Amino acid sequence: MFEIGIQLKKERGAENVFDYSIGNPEVEPPETVIAALRRVVAENRVGSHGYMPNAGYPHVRERIAGVLRDRTGVPFGAGDVLMTTGAAGAINVVLKSILDPGDEVIVLNPYFPEYRFYIENHGGKVVAVETGERFEPVPERVAAAVTPRTRALILNSPNNPTGVVYSETQLRALNRALPDPVLVISDEPYRPLTYDGAVLPEAVAIFDRAVLAWSWSKAMAVSGERIGYLAIPPGVGGQPLRDACIMANRILGYINAPAIWQWVVGIEPNATVDAGAYQAKRDLLCDALQAMGYDAPRCQGSFYVFPRTPIADDIAFIRILSDEGILAVPGAGFGRSGYMRLSLTIAREAIERSLPGFRCALERAC
Ligand SMILES: Cc1ncc(COP(=O)(O)O)c(C=O)c1O
Repeated sequence: MFEIGIQLKKERGAENVFDYSIGNPEVEPPETVIAALRRVVAENRVGSHGYMPNAGYPHVRERIAGVLRDRTGVPFGAGDVLMTTGAAGAINVVLKSILDPGDEVIVLNPYFPEYRFYIENHGGKVVAVETGERFEPVPERVAAAVTPRTRALILNSPNNPTGVVYSETQLRALNRALPDPVLVISDEPYRPLTYDGAVLPEAVAIFDRAVLAWSWSKAMAVSGERIGYLAIPPGVGGQPLRDACIMANRILGYINAPAIWQWVVGIEPNATVDAGAYQAKRDLLCDALQAMGYDAPRCQGSFYVFPRTPIADDIAFIRILSDEGILAVPGAGFGRSGYMRLSLTIAREAIERSLPGFRCALERAC
């Protein structure tokens, strides 16, 4: 999509290309985050540009543990938090720690395609389990997919690509379907982005064995800065899991989370972008698409809308859309054909100007 986008922009002019394909926040980080960054730079503490303990700065880990204790009710301590290079770093660290070659990891289809590479990075095998009619986890299917080699299940709510938020009832049922020692890796970079008052349950408080992979990439719109954490609840994995993750954080090639951003999130751990702006764009897009005849339900969270394509061949429909200057990602890329992912990171004004193109594409396809 990236290459097609560059080509289309050359041919038609950038203002005539409507790029719904990329999940890169288009908003700027909150002012309080930039102020914290300025403060850290101005203070220029001695030694603040050097290596730190591999798990991260102790004061930052303590601050995050406090935030988690307040939010989840789980008694996290500083020793349960490991600062990472985003959620991607957190997931790779834990997979490196728990997988032996040939071990299996369950993902719920459709899923963020990079999970496959993260799992295979560490010799693991992907086991994709289909979700239900509304992309909800189906505990019986998950239970049937568990084998003696199953080590983990990656859970992502709010979900990329579907925008679905799993309910507490669904998570409790999933917990019952997972035998020891299957570990749930709860990937939550979109946690602050929920709409219409949707409540996001705390996976670490619900599952018997869950770790939290967190990122400020989307929460603070700092995806290029590479900052997040892995939180392991007390009682999960013991010190060996923590030690393995700390070691993995050191040896996977990126070596510790960036120092300056650890300081910043230590000051402003709860700052988030305005979810209301995404919600307004969601309403504009989904209402307009539905009025045209698309099956385009409003997402409950994340910044993705996942409509059905009007024809079963999503790749063919994406080509029709690209003739209209609209770039979207086919559902096949996430393991579910017949759908397309539209990212709400596009500007509101571009959504408005893209609507005639969606109408033309629908007419041409049907
Ligand atoms: C579901 C999901 N998990 C993880 C990531 C990686 O995020 P990070 O930038 O925190 O590594 C992304 C990024 O798009 C994502 O959508």
